[in-house]
Amino acid sequence: MPQQNLTFLGLGTMGYPMAGFLAKNADYNVTVYNRTTAKAEKWVTEYEGQFAATVEEAVKNADIVLSCAGNDNDVREIYAKVFAAAKPGALLIDHTTTSATVARELYAKAKELNMEFLDAPVSGGQAGAEGGVLTIMVGGDQSTFDKCLDVMNSYAKATTLIGESGKGQVLKMVNQLCIAGLLEGLSEAWRLAKASDIEPEMMLDVLQHGAAGSWQMVNRTKTAMNNEFDLGFAIDWMRKDLGICFDEAEKLGIDLPTAKQVDAKYADLQKRGYARADTSVLFKQFDDETR
Ligand SMILES: NC(=O)c1ccc[n+]([C@@H]2O[C@H](COP(=O)([O-])OP(=O)(O)OC[C@H]3O[C@@H](n4cnc5c(N)ncnc54)[C@H](OP(=O)(O)O)[C@@H]3O)[C@@H](O)[C@H]2O)c1
Repeated sequence: MPQQNLTFLGLGTMGYPMAGFLAKNADYNVTVYNRTTAKAEKWVTEYEGQFAATVEEAVKNADIVLSCAGNDNDVREIYAKVFAAAKPGALLIDHTTTSATVARELYAKAKELNMEFLDAPVSGGQAGAEGGVLTIMVGGDQSTFDKCLDVMNSYAKATTLIGESGKGQVLKMVNQLCIAGLLEGLSEAWRLAKASDIEPEMMLDVLQHGAAGSWQMVNRTKTAMNNEFDLGFAIDWMRKDLGICFDEAEKLGIDLPTAKQVDAKYADLQKRGYARADTSVLFKQFDDETR
């Protein structure tokens, strides 16, 4: 079997290790691109593969293009270059968390150019990317999904086709709403426990095995209690994602009241200097209060 040419665009917190997992597979010839070239230069010292100086150069021979950038505008900018330079038949997979609107736009444009596009946002955070155990929610055509599944499974423990183009992004929105609600609940629960002098370790040991147990409780409550927020998923990103949720909800004519309250609290925490802190920094919302 000849090697497949894979190109990964965006070597950020998530993309860097994801591209690394691809490079470990001898079936893949991996090219990377990063806007800040120093990161791409570093990547090729750690992994098998080459870097390109421009998006166009990086994608021109690619069978599969993968990307993980920042927001809607970044992805539009990157894909304008991909569409100009990739070859017909190229399979395009975007792992960025974007709006479903952008996903559908790129899917339509890809079709027009005889390319194929999947929206494939991920969950699992930096640890999931570094461990190769992400959860991937995919929107697009079954036939494209089938061709791309092995590649995505290089860094995922679960990759699922949710439905037509945009549906991967919609399920990612649902995921973010779950996290916002969970963290709000945990912050208030911790507040009551603390005010009642319940021993934190005991609270966690007991509750995580019951009906309130969750990933956020197990992995983020203790760190938040210890004022450790230099980990995980920044509230800047969460506010971007909640903004996407609110736009989608408005289109559907529904309200998301708890998420709106949490978003306002995150806005306040951004002003207090916690923009890059993990989402569990919501625990600090009560800091100024004595009880
Ligand atoms: N971090 C997490 O825990 C996590 C979890 C799940 C999903 N996500 C989502 O995954 C995406 C990436 O997150 P991340 O934490 O990896 O972000 P990050 O560390 O900030 O990396 C973003 C990457 O995109 C590149 N980029 C951004 N805008 C660009 C543009 N206009 N043109 C070219 N390259 C551009 C950046 O290049 P430079 O290096 O030049 O800046 C960088 O390589 C986001 O949509 C985020 O919401 C993140």
